[in-house]
Amino acid sequence: MESTHDWIAGPGTPLHGCLTVPGDKSISHRAVMLAAIADGTSRIDGFLEGADTRATAAAFVAMGVRVEMPEPSVRIVHGVGIDGLKAPQSPLDCGNAGTAMRLLAGLLAGQSFDSTLAGDASLSKRPMQRVIEPLHSMGARIDSDQGLPPLRITGGRSLKGIDYDLPVASAQIKSALLLAGLYADGETIIREPSPTRDYTERMLQAFGVDIVYAPGHARLHGGQRLRATDVVVPADFSSAAFFIVAASLVARSDVRITRVGMNPRRTGLLAVLQAMGADIRIENASAEGGEPVADIIVRHAPLHGIDVPAEHVADMIDEFPVLFVAAASASGTTRITGAAELRVKESDRIATMAQGLRTLGIRVDETPDGATIHGGQLRGGRVDSHGDHRIAMAFAVAAQCASGDVAVGDVGNVATSLPGFAELGARAGFGLRSA
Ligand code: S3P
Repeated sequence: MESTHDWIAGPGTPLHGCLTVPGDKSISHRAVMLAAIADGTSRIDGFLEGADTRATAAAFVAMGVRVEMPEPSVRIVHGVGIDGLKAPQSPLDCGNAGTAMRLLAGLLAGQSFDSTLAGDASLSKRPMQRVIEPLHSMGARIDSDQGLPPLRITGGRSLKGIDYDLPVASAQIKSALLLAGLYADGETIIREPSPTRDYTERMLQAFGVDIVYAPGHARLHGGQRLRATDVVVPADFSSAAFFIVAASLVARSDVRITRVGMNPRRTGLLAVLQAMGADIRIENASAEGGEPVADIIVRHAPLHGIDVPAEHVADMIDEFPVLFVAAASASGTTRITGAAELRVKESDRIATMAQGLRTLGIRVDETPDGATIHGGQLRGGRVDSHGDHRIAMAFAVAAQCASGDVAVGDVGNVATSLPGFAELGARAGFGLRSA
């Protein structure tokens, strides 16, 4: 994590030119994990050099996996095979990364050795019972502090497959159970209340695992080995989202964001912004490493409020902070419902966005599972990101169309998912500097 510091963000110039954002966080985590337990050597191109994904790579190094970095954004992972991980000598530090902790809990539940997963102050407050409980039903033993990290995982347990209906739509829990399922006797079957990102399923298949999946459903048999393969990581849609919204809001903007991952379980924001009146075009659609990618071209357009259809929530779960900003600048009201999960992200994202937007002069009515945002003119002020990377970047975007400067506090954690955001933004036209 970067040291804590603040930004002063202010109205910038129209966004223009061609932008490339770094690699996808979710895919980078999974690529290292699967490559580490595969037979053979895998190369990962486009690996996200963020604190979260580096924490995952470091965890596997601590478990005896050789990981080389021939150049930034590339990793060569020398897989040790499905049973080749070694006991780590100290707790594995997941930093701020919920994905690292939850997926590793699944992967480590079936190992022969004990391990402990720890995290930073924010991660230490995030709910882990949702992953502990189904892993316990598979035969794992994980001790925690009333469902909170650190997680102490007892090795040497024999796991059995599970047939499980997830109570919440969560790709992290689904993935943890599939990874545990690799070490379990029999079949593991997961059903989701609404489909979530299917990167684990796609990537297990790319690593040679026999897995059956469809939106909202996945099943695999334990006892399979993984075969090393090369992975090309597309640019992270969630990082692109900040520039998509900024270009929509700032008059005379016209930007192209290149080779962005377009997995339909991630791009719900596009449909919502288009329904609000955004001018967004998709060009150069192709596939890279089994994932759809495309250029996203965004021009400024006036936005109007809508009722966000609940069926889009899972497909844009990480984009709500910046959608709050779009809604704050839109004419009329925007209603968000069915998004209670936002309250257990890196911060309570409903509360932190509502609080910050009110400081900037916008009326926001909070509900337990969403908010009603009354669009208006954003003004300057001082907001707190509560150490949440996406909140910090969302307020930097808000500042681009505010009437005065916005001081954004505690932005160090932006390095977890989008190192270089400030430089990238400044190049594109953002008014943004370190305080
Ligand atoms: C992720 C899943 C989502 C998302 C997170 C990354 C993943 O979390 O919010 O940023 O990589 O599987 P949940 O599984 O808690 O919804």
